Amino acid sequence: MPEQAAREQVKYIIPVIDESIKNSKLKIKNLEAIAVTIGPGLIGSLLIGIETAKTLSMVFQKPIIPVNHLVGHIYANFIKGVAGPAFPALCLLVSGGHTELVLMKNHGDYQVVGQTLDDAAGECFDKCARLLGLGYPGGPAVEAAASKLKIKNEKLKMIINNLKLNLPRPMITDSSFNFSFSGLKTAVLYLLKKLTYRQLTISKQQLISFELQEAITDVLVAKTLKAAEKFQVKSIIVGGGVASNQRLRDKFQLTIRQLADQQLTINIFFPDKKLCTDNAIGIASSAFFNFKPILWSQIKPNPSLSI
Ligand code: KG4
Ligand code: ZN
Repeated sequence: MPEQAAREQVKYIIPVIDESIKNSKLKIKNLEAIAVTIGPGLIGSLLIGIETAKTLSMVFQKPIIPVNHLVGHIYANFIKGVAGPAFPALCLLVSGGHTELVLMKNHGDYQVVGQTLDDAAGECFDKCARLLGLGYPGGPAVEAAASKLKIKNEKLKMIINNLKLNLPRPMITDSSFNFSFSGLKTAVLYLLKKLTYRQLTISKQQLISFELQEAITDVLVAKTLKAAEKFQVKSIIVGGGVASNQRLRDKFQLTIRQLADQQLTINIFFPDKKLCTDNAIGIASSAFFNFKPILWSQIKPNPSLSI
């Protein structure tokens, strides 16, 4: 499977770059530098990106700027204007491979203050979606299934309480800023078994999808807000695939409004939905704000690179 993906990437990388340059109406000769992701990620994809960037750098005589994939997710929030979110900021990175809370005091200054102890939030959506017989990627599939229930959230919560279908909110009240999502898949499996012989007028798949989305987003919002208050940040920045989840966005907006009523102003930033999942714009934005070209020979893939 990874080999198959790498083969496809080799085939498409030049046509994709070519088309992007054409669509942007820029000329390669006018670009200042080439930014490339060096990790974390799959070794095949990283190698293909890095070797292509090195080749383009040699042919067009452009410097190369290495970028951390996770930092690219943060910088998808800095593309609308040079000002961007104010510092200090707390970043919630939520993707298929990572769930991290990062305190960002300035450009290039990151401190991880919390992270998942097991599965990432996106991974939890993906694994539970599989158990629910939904497609891949699981996050959008769970969100779509939950939103098919044309019933108000409060009413749905009552139904879930009455049927005792509540899922746990792992580590929501513990004192750390860490997360744990691996227990949720066992809990979903248990719910599915419990409901096997039960007649419901409502789709079980949609009802559990709703509760799963509630559980994951409740924990993400509660922990982020707790850390934001502790570190007295001016902004919260959300990035990564799970940041496109509308329920997560709505809960954050609501909580931020409640804080504003208590005279605590924190601004929240989400990238456009199409820039939440992996994309080149966040990588270019990171390189723009952290313009540090390095020698080719020092650019190497690092599949487990951290922030
Ligand atoms: O950042 P990303 O594109 O790739 C990684 O670096 O992992 O994130 C992919 C993850 C997948 O787990 C996917 O299920 C999740 O983001 N995701 C979502 C949504 N869209 C993508 N999770 C919840 N709700 C969504 N709408
Ligand atoms: Zn990513």
